Amino acid sequence: MKIEIRELTKYYGSYRALDNINLIFNEGIHGLLGPNGAGKTTLIRILSTLLPQTSGQICYDSTSVADKREIRRIIGYLPQEFSFYPGFTVYETLDYFASLSNKKLSKKEILDRLEAVNLQDLWKAKTKTLSGGMKRRLGIAVALVGEPEVLIVDEPTAGLDPEERIRVRNMLSQLGKTKTVLLSTHIVEDIALSCKSLSILNKGRLVYNGTVKDMVKSSEGYVWDLTVDFKEYEGYMDKYNVISSIVDGDKALLRLLSKEKPSLNAVSTSPTLEDAYMRLIKDV
Ligand SMILES: Nc1ncnc2c1ncn2[C@@H]1O[C@H](COP(=O)(O)OP(=O)(O)OP(=O)(O)O)[C@@H](O)[C@H]1O
Ligand SMILES: [Mg+2]
Repeated sequence: MKIEIRELTKYYGSYRALDNINLIFNEGIHGLLGPNGAGKTTLIRILSTLLPQTSGQICYDSTSVADKREIRRIIGYLPQEFSFYPGFTVYETLDYFASLSNKKLSKKEILDRLEAVNLQDLWKAKTKTLSGGMKRRLGIAVALVGEPEVLIVDEPTAGLDPEERIRVRNMLSQLGKTKTVLLSTHIVEDIALSCKSLSILNKGRLVYNGTVKDMVKSSEGYVWDLTVDFKEYEGYMDKYNVISSIVDGDKALLRLLSKEKPSLNAVSTSPTLEDAYMRLIKDV
């Protein structure tokens, strides 16, 4: 399914949270990356019909987001913050959400869906006993309960340990084979390891949209490694966007972003996705 966003702007009072966003994405998993306050949740809530836009249009194939009932049939949404009834079991929670979306699921179907998110062994556990990662996985099962064509997940990996993050990411990659998945995150690694295409929001503006590969390429020539005397360290920190610094005795090893070569001994180095992200956010 194709999602098309045209000239989308959102104001909260006089504060402009989204500024003229134009964006199209198709089947597969698409990343939405940006720092805190960039507007990711605002965009996702508008895409999910939970928040009205100030101006602009959004279409899912030919269906406008104004057609809330139809859009809600098409999409599954996992919010950034959510909670379940603490006294419900995992099984009861999924059963409850299925009935809310008018789905009659047999016991076997519910257990199959729990198996898909690797929670089958915990079907009798109360939701209050689940870890953060288990809750996210149950949240994904709930978002998928109506068999949506589009899955929108807001920061599903935030606060998870590396093993759970990998599990959630792999689950989403799998889903991206048959659905359109929009994954919002502020963790660059999540995008590098699961998405082919991504959009970057910063202060309500779209600062990049395209493939991960092209984004990295666009920052070639901007990343430098150099060694400086410790007494010059502060000066470099003030003048440049320093990505990393390792202090070693009276020397410091810096990796920084710059259009021009920052010093004679600086060596141009291949950008990582994180370097490219920082360059776009810092507008180097
Ligand atoms: N209901 C609201 N009323 C007023 N301002 C809001 C409201 N919701 C969000 N904002 C502001 O809009 C901007 C974007 O917020 P949003 O939650 O969309 O960002 P985000 O990219 O999801 O951030 P995070 O990574 O912290 O979740 C922020 O400056 C925020 O303070
Ligand atoms: Mg958010």
